[in-house]
Amino acid sequence: MLKEITENFKNAYGVEPQVVAQAPGRIEFIGNHTDYNGGYTMGVAIDKVVMCAVAKRPDRKLCFTNLKAGEKVLVDMDDLSPRPRKYNWVNYPLGMFKFMCEAGMKPDCGLNMFDASSLPAGAGLSSSAAIELSSGFAFAELYGFKPDLKTVVRAGRKDENEFVGMPCGILDQGVSGFGKKDALVFIDCLKEEFSNYPLPHNCKFWLFNSTKKHALVDGLYAARHNECMDAAKILSNGGPERLLREFTSADLEAAKSKMPEASYKRAKHVIEENARVLKVRELLESGDIAGVGKQLNLSHESSRTLFENSCEELDFLVDTVTPMNGIFGARLSGGGFGGAVVALADSSFSQNDAEKVADIYEARFGKRPMIFTCASGDGAKVIKHI
Ligand code: GLA
Repeated sequence: MLKEITENFKNAYGVEPQVVAQAPGRIEFIGNHTDYNGGYTMGVAIDKVVMCAVAKRPDRKLCFTNLKAGEKVLVDMDDLSPRPRKYNWVNYPLGMFKFMCEAGMKPDCGLNMFDASSLPAGAGLSSSAAIELSSGFAFAELYGFKPDLKTVVRAGRKDENEFVGMPCGILDQGVSGFGKKDALVFIDCLKEEFSNYPLPHNCKFWLFNSTKKHALVDGLYAARHNECMDAAKILSNGGPERLLREFTSADLEAAKSKMPEASYKRAKHVIEENARVLKVRELLESGDIAGVGKQLNLSHESSRTLFENSCEELDFLVDTVTPMNGIFGARLSGGGFGGAVVALADSSFSQNDAEKVADIYEARFGKRPMIFTCASGDGAKVIKHI
């Protein structure tokens, strides 16, 4: 892939890139919609990445392109404001440029950039975090800025929140940054602490993407975010505003009558999901993978009934795959309202078995889900240095 992106960069700009960085996609393992509530979450970085190649140019312009876009977009580096919706793909690296400057990067001139991806499109593997982290690392290296990993991860989240306009938490960027081969990333989102836990031996993740995307998915994500913030505000009871992570089930029950039902249900999901993530961490440490699987199933049930971010297709995938041989558990993974289901399986679960799930799904919904399995991979890094 490095050879290919170097060639493509040369075709686009007539010179070799000076720096290439890469960042992986991620699978959300457990901890659904807990991140922006300051909670706990766990994910795994995969061995498919976005690569970002850059070189300096003499003027004060930033130029972006890739094979899919098929055109170059030129931006003045003294006007770092979001581009119109049609050029949304530019906003990810552009916002990173801005937030890396805010973190201390001092560009002495503009740059040319070319990005490429080995992540399957639309599979729910967070290609957005991968482009953020890979471009952030590429820019920093190009201008001789040496940020720590957390700085780049935080810039990625800021980019999504303030530039792209998605009120997400730090899960995707945290996993893409702190991922390690054969390990899970555990995140304490309130403290912004990241740690790795060994992946259970002989286990594999399977992703089944419903290929359904709710038309209002961005609006629905923001609506859930607001309901959680409303619940936290009521629980804070006029004091300094705290996030849902800081409250217990008992606090919630005591405030139930003061809250709209939707906020109560969202908060109940988040508080209980946080407990499940901690439980999964414990079960992983004691090697109880069957126990981990049960928590995955409970997480899905909670998304379905309390957070209400599942849908018929995801429920059907979970119900179909869960009873199959070799499966420990399954749940919706990511934002929800369509998208993907992740299943934790032992090595006896095969591609054939996955195809059976796809057949059953196709017979019911008239289209095949996207099946995806992969190995874990390392977090973001520079692979060609200046
Ligand atoms: C999306 C967001 C994450 C997280 C998940 C739900 O993937 O980008 O920040 O909120 O949804 O857990």
